[in-house]
Amino acid sequence: MSSTAPHHVRLGDNLDVLPELDGPFDLIYLDPPYNTGGRVVTAYDDARDDWSAFMAARLAQLPRLLATTGIVIASIDDREIHHLRLLLDEYLGADNFVGTVVWDGSTINSAHLLSVSHDYLVIYAADLAALQASGTRWRQERPDAEMVLAAAADAWSTAGGDRAEAQKRFRAWLAPRRATLPRGLTEYDRIDGRGRLYRVSDPGAPSVQKGRSFRPLAHPVTGQVCPVPKRGWRMNDASMDRMLAAGMIEFGSDHTTQPKLKRLLADNATAVPRSVFRQEREGARHLASIPGAGEFPFPKDADVLARWFDTVTVPDARILDPFLGSGTTIEVAMRLNATDGGTRHVTGIALDEGGTVEDVLAPRLDHCEQVYGDQVSLSREEAAAPTVAA
Ligand SMILES: C[S@@+](CC[C@H](N)C(=O)[O-])C[C@H]1O[C@@H](n2cnc3c(N)ncnc32)[C@H](O)[C@@H]1O
Repeated sequence: MSSTAPHHVRLGDNLDVLPELDGPFDLIYLDPPYNTGGRVVTAYDDARDDWSAFMAARLAQLPRLLATTGIVIASIDDREIHHLRLLLDEYLGADNFVGTVVWDGSTINSAHLLSVSHDYLVIYAADLAALQASGTRWRQERPDAEMVLAAAADAWSTAGGDRAEAQKRFRAWLAPRRATLPRGLTEYDRIDGRGRLYRVSDPGAPSVQKGRSFRPLAHPVTGQVCPVPKRGWRMNDASMDRMLAAGMIEFGSDHTTQPKLKRLLADNATAVPRSVFRQEREGARHLASIPGAGEFPFPKDADVLARWFDTVTVPDARILDPFLGSGTTIEVAMRLNATDGGTRHVTGIALDEGGTVEDVLAPRLDHCEQVYGDQVSLSREEAAAPTVAA
């Protein structure tokens, strides 16, 4: 159980509640009504006469609440993304636009001309230049890396630790998948004497630099020295010693070939996230599995939010969700806290529309408290009648 302060849910119109909040928040997640005009959503009022005005009044409050290193992620679809971008450019600054992520999930609405299956995560930083200057690097698990590593581990164990046999088995598994897996993954097709999946890379320094090692290496079988790259090795003598000790240098069959560097997939299983990903939408199915929770139209997918929240924030992040809906954001924070011992804390604002709080949000949060151990406090704002107009 993590020791985070209780997550806090404020009931009411976020227009009334936002001015009462104190920041700074490290992440503000926005999942506003998509304004489908009731074509898709029926349980809460998804339509706004003037969506931009409705949103502008709320987005105007974000800069005050966002930490200087903060991030805003907004879910939206094609209907309002262009308006949302203009509004976020206005309130957060066009220079702070990080990018638009396209989530290709299951079909949302079918039509005779185009079956729409995607929506977006629009990402802004409070100060993109400062974020970049700080050396921050976002990383995510490379899609399929886990599956490839598991196949290599399986080949290693079924081959009883015989390196050549394990490599043969692994390559037999890989062969029919080479065409569909990314090349960056299929390059990892060698298994070493410790069962590690790796590829080899050029050991030579790209340019002549002080400190690079030029030391000749003796071949482990013939004892004779191997060729040294023209501009020296990529590393200095001390790093070369560490790599030799860790078995990260691959020698050829004799001293006539230049040794190569080994790159382990296990060390490279993450990468900078890509702007398009495909993942089936599981939000509704997941919500239906929670005891006592009623239906809610298009709850966000907890796995997807968990991946992006984890990517852009630290484990003690303060998170604000002004459109809490069925409470996915709180479940995600609890789940991440339980996984990594973090102390993420969510403040959510929920409009009690159509019985959502009693029928969906409260039972879901009760369930999550029991499963993950974090606590939630829920307070009703006297002044905040559930008005939905801007
Ligand atoms: C797209 S849904 C959010 C879904 C949520 N992310 C989830 O996974 O359950 C939009 C939500 O915003 C709520 N909402 C609409 N206007 C609001 C307002 N003025 N203040 C607070 N919430 C509002 C709606 O009731 C609805 O629950």
